[in-house]
Amino acid sequence: MTGRFPFVDRPRLWGTALSHYQVEGGDVCDWTEWERAGKTRGEPCGDAVDSWRRYESDADLARAAGANAFRFSVSWSRVEPREGELDEAALARYRALAEHLRRIDLEPCVTLLHYTHPLWFHERTPWTSPASVDRFGRFAARVAEAFQGLVRFWVPLNEPFVFLLGGFLDGQIPPGLSDTRVLRRVFDHLLAAHAAAANAIRERIPEAAVGVAHNMMAFAPERPKKFLDSLLVNIADRCYNRAIVEAFATGRWDFLIPPATRIRGRRDDLPKSLDVFGVNFYSRLHLRCPGVTRFIGDFNYRDASGYGLTDNGWEVVPEAFPALLDEAAAAGFPLVITENGLADEHDRLRPMFLERHAAALARDDVHGYFHWSLLDNYEWLDGYDPKFGLYAVDRNTMARTARPSVETFRRLGASFLR
Ligand code: BGC
Repeated sequence: MTGRFPFVDRPRLWGTALSHYQVEGGDVCDWTEWERAGKTRGEPCGDAVDSWRRYESDADLARAAGANAFRFSVSWSRVEPREGELDEAALARYRALAEHLRRIDLEPCVTLLHYTHPLWFHERTPWTSPASVDRFGRFAARVAEAFQGLVRFWVPLNEPFVFLLGGFLDGQIPPGLSDTRVLRRVFDHLLAAHAAAANAIRERIPEAAVGVAHNMMAFAPERPKKFLDSLLVNIADRCYNRAIVEAFATGRWDFLIPPATRIRGRRDDLPKSLDVFGVNFYSRLHLRCPGVTRFIGDFNYRDASGYGLTDNGWEVVPEAFPALLDEAAAAGFPLVITENGLADEHDRLRPMFLERHAAALARDDVHGYFHWSLLDNYEWLDGYDPKFGLYAVDRNTMARTARPSVETFRRLGASFLR
């Protein structure tokens, strides 16, 4: 381990997370095309919640909620709208945000790939091609130059596994492929891109701590006595949760994507490319095999734990959090919760959700927590219906209003940071 993380002067981080496309507005990228092609269910992103112009006052809201850290992402399509051409004004905009964060004493945490890509990317250097690695490394280098002296916590990739499945197996998100033959190559290139970005960042910012934000999901057999349901749970846990943990721990991976795609590979520089392991945790899926709708299995949310489902139908299951943190900790890196939250417009469940998940943070290897999200925002395929914000946003006036759980967040933060 490199010892770059936790930061000596700020051993614990308490913050909020958001991503560029979901809040900024007016960003033209592959996702905009996806909306235009009718591949999303909700309203298109449009102006989002106008954070491109309001970032500083949004950051002030995080500060007012007791945060000492702020996770955001940089839009590749804004920074490099045409291959090889940088938009200096976009970089300057992000730099101004990072300066503001420093001014109000929030530790910036920067993500470089949060699902969206520049329009040229999938055509010219798609993730199936090794050129993707070089392009992403170059983008990381430019952003690191812009943030020198300001940002030391970096997350090159948000949820690489979700992106792999959604973009190349289910075809639900851009580039929308459904091709088991490319999975192995894309996985390899994503991990290589992470390592290339880590190198580019550390060359420019030697004190940088590099992480990954890995979505971890709890799985349970729908019918506990059925062998096949339990078997599917094991396979899902191994591939969805553990493959990435093992890849970063050992530089090797070997797992099965059901029903029969074996993904195997090796990258010796991977363990050294990481300083901190980020966990995004939301919910639990109940698996049934064979499925009623899909032969290999059904994946359903159910209110098995009895707290009530979130507005978008997800189970609230804080009891599952500690075991997933143990799985993540097996990689041997310090942990940060890079996302955790729920869609809950009326704040019925959020205060309790925050309390119960915060209870799982009382362990020596957890050094930070970022709540998803600061604001209600654009929720990808579902448009603006799910409300994930500590602050509600009225999209007509763009006014931000604190939900009662801001107080819970502040109180829990004060005790976590003590
Ligand atoms: C993603 C966010 C998303 C959230 C809620 C996470 O997996 O990183 O972009 O808004 O889930 O669905």
